[in-house]
Amino acid sequence: MTDLRPKQGKSVFIRTYGCQMNVYDSERMADLLKPIGYSAADSPDDADLVILNTCHIREKAAEKVYSELGRLKRAKANREADGETMTIAVAGCVAQAEGAEIAARAPVVDMVIGPQAYHRLPELLARDARDRGVALETDFAVNEKFDALCNREAEGPAAFITVQEGCDKFCTFCVVPYTRGAEVSRPVEAITAEARSLAAQGVKEVTLLGQNVNGWAGAPPAGDSSDKWRLGELCRHLAKIDGIERIRFTTSHPRDMDDGLIAALGDEEKLMPYLHLPVQAGSDKILKSMNRGHTAESYRRLIEKIRDARPDIALSGDFIVGFPGETTEDFEETLALVETVGYASAYSFKYSRRPGTPGAAMPKQVAEAEKDDRLARLQELLERQRSAFNRAQIGRTMPVLFEKAGRHPGQLIGRSPYLQSVHANAPESMLGSIAPVTILDVTPNALAGALKKEDEDAA
Ligand code: 5AD
Ligand code: SF4
Repeated sequence: MTDLRPKQGKSVFIRTYGCQMNVYDSERMADLLKPIGYSAADSPDDADLVILNTCHIREKAAEKVYSELGRLKRAKANREADGETMTIAVAGCVAQAEGAEIAARAPVVDMVIGPQAYHRLPELLARDARDRGVALETDFAVNEKFDALCNREAEGPAAFITVQEGCDKFCTFCVVPYTRGAEVSRPVEAITAEARSLAAQGVKEVTLLGQNVNGWAGAPPAGDSSDKWRLGELCRHLAKIDGIERIRFTTSHPRDMDDGLIAALGDEEKLMPYLHLPVQAGSDKILKSMNRGHTAESYRRLIEKIRDARPDIALSGDFIVGFPGETTEDFEETLALVETVGYASAYSFKYSRRPGTPGAAMPKQVAEAEKDDRLARLQELLERQRSAFNRAQIGRTMPVLFEKAGRHPGQLIGRSPYLQSVHANAPESMLGSIAPVTILDVTPNALAGALKKEDEDAA
């Protein structure tokens, strides 16, 4: 049997790339390593174990891993010259997609661990001491991983909970269905237990995470005879937990926005009025070729329906410019869609040709300079909408969850219902609580406000 008993005084440095799912996974890896003696190192240079939790979504994200490995090679050599060791692990989606290539291209790497295998880290580390050569763990064992999610310590008043992993949508540009595998949903009871334990530690806001989160369809709690619950029911259930004041979920697909979820957004007050609902493009020809399964018009109608249910909802989205075959006219349709919908915030990207996806083999790839041009035009429009949305908050009073101390003495930083960063002068005793703040000013990346008078006096 493998000896998993604690070793004294080891340290780990985890660098996270990419999405919130990776942030969550990195935190869980740290949780798994704590009981076997690993504490957090301040820098990779001082660490016994360095984990790169990687992202494969676009070429640039994937390439960052190899340049970081170049730096780590020198750090590892320095440590070895001092008589110490450094174990280097590559985790996440690049590990899943290019495991063997990493092992060949970067011999400095000791372990390659796919996103569904990190619960095996303690075992791999114990083995590593005896084994030479790269340990490669890239099986899809998502259920096993969910089972291994240990009791976690809250790290602030807002926390992520993974409820779903993988994606069956197969958008033709996207690697996720290959790197994260098929959709798997965690059962209601496991999610509820995690949320309850977080609430007991003072967590006020939970964000339910999934690559296709509104595709979640989980086993109901014991005693409920229905087959599967959908996300709307899950949110209502979690809203009953004392202490949980805010619920969010991300990332949603337009095709899975069912009526139950829209109704929950409409009448469950703990669900925040902010929805990330990527559309990617505005031309039906491109949407079809992306295999999105919706048109620009059906997306517009969906937004109308959601706004009817929850008039104060703000939207965020993802966009890709320069997908193969996208003409100037197609791109103009993306701009037109953005104009009619109106986004509070958005992410936009140049199409990146990912090996193994259908898009990579499509004819009429768009020239890089053209993509640059389109991205700049789209971002200019999205930025105008974002700053107009932020400016529109001036004079409003909104509940803010204070998450951390600000840079100036006496200042705290919190989040608005719309995920905006809000700076306000408030006593430290208000950290972790929600209080009304009147918005007075807008800076490029945050809102500035003041506590409503009575809250200031009460504090
Ligand atoms: N190129 C550019 N952007 C991509 N995304 C996913 N795959 C690609 C790609 N090949 C974007 C999509 C998705 C977000 C997470 O990343 O907009 O919603
Ligand atoms: Fe990728 Fe499309 Fe799935 Fe989103 S819905 S993860 S873009 S395949």
